Amino acid sequence: MPDERIITAKEKPDDKTWDLTLRPTQLKEYFGQQKIKDNLEIFMKAAKQRHEPIEHVLLYGPPGLGKTTLAHIIAREMGANIRVTSGPAIERAGDLAAILTNMEDGGILFIDEIHRLNRVIEEILYPAMEDYALDVIIGKGPSARTLRLDLPKFTIIGATTRFNLLSSPLRDRFGSIYRLDYYNQNEIKQILNRSSRILAIDLIEEAAQMIAQRSRLTPRIANRFLKRVRDYVQVKGDGIINSKLAQEALELMDVDIRGLDALDRKILEAIIEKFKGGPVGVGSIAAAVQEEEGTIEEIYEPYLMQLGFLIRTPRGRVVSELGYRHLGLDVPSELQSKLL
Ligand SMILES: Nc1ncnc2c1ncn2[C@@H]1O[C@H](COP(=O)(O)OP(=O)(O)OP(=O)(O)O)[C@@H](O)[C@H]1O
Ligand SMILES: [Mg+2]
Repeated sequence: MPDERIITAKEKPDDKTWDLTLRPTQLKEYFGQQKIKDNLEIFMKAAKQRHEPIEHVLLYGPPGLGKTTLAHIIAREMGANIRVTSGPAIERAGDLAAILTNMEDGGILFIDEIHRLNRVIEEILYPAMEDYALDVIIGKGPSARTLRLDLPKFTIIGATTRFNLLSSPLRDRFGSIYRLDYYNQNEIKQILNRSSRILAIDLIEEAAQMIAQRSRLTPRIANRFLKRVRDYVQVKGDGIINSKLAQEALELMDVDIRGLDALDRKILEAIIEKFKGGPVGVGSIAAAVQEEEGTIEEIYEPYLMQLGFLIRTPRGRVVSELGYRHLGLDVPSELQSKLL
């Protein structure tokens, strides 16, 4: 199971309190994602000047990159109340109607895992998002009629790790759509420094650098590693994180210098050994490593692609030169032709 792994970007149960302590509450403490922040700042300011709610926002990208955090920051910066729900939590039409009719003007409804909303519920959302209206059907059979109720002017912030599972009518109803990207190592270091200040940990530069390198460029994982390293140093050292102790602690976690764990390597090796290095579809990769296709697509593949170890071609995934080199293997001569 991917959730047992230390490098899973998904939230683990013991991340919860940790995430809350370390979660930035203002845009200026939210590092990276500069373009998104620039855009958000402008449109939040404009909406405030017009005394209007902001348009609906969709945030997507791999787990642990800061979607939930950003949704809360937007609410706070807008001085708006935020109500949190998720796709799978809204089971019946009545659940959604109850939520919507209880929103306040300018309020924010955060729908996490919005790709998991069922279609019936989605259709109720369309007029709600477009016209702030709720269509209620009264009565049954031939005498049934539709009544249109006005809703408060609210904003939906949707978040998803699986953008391609979202229906296009739903996508179209968001005024702005932002893809959160992996952070760079410097940004991760800034996040680690901020976290260590909050937690009163003495983190030296080299140790921050080592954690950042292995963090899969993901804030949640970086923070989780910081916590593991802190525990290790507390037990084995004198409380100060130096590079030797940091390295020992990180080595215990079975993550290599680029943040790859056993499954990442297994994926690359399977493509090389069973599919001659690709091109191969995700379905076949999933079967070969006995993982769910969705997990590969959502968590493993995006990071391997970010590192440039895996390349997406129209005919499927291909292990790149960098990928072979990282595994310490010779680069096959026919690789170039596969990438054309
Ligand atoms: N830009 C950032 N600056 C500082 N810390 C961040 C940033 N983004 C995320 N974090 C930290 O990482 C943690 C995880 O972020 P968050 O829960 O927002 O991710 P997510 O994208 O919603 O993940 P999921 O897809 O699993 O819901 C936060 O609690 C916060 O501590
Ligand atoms: Mg989240």
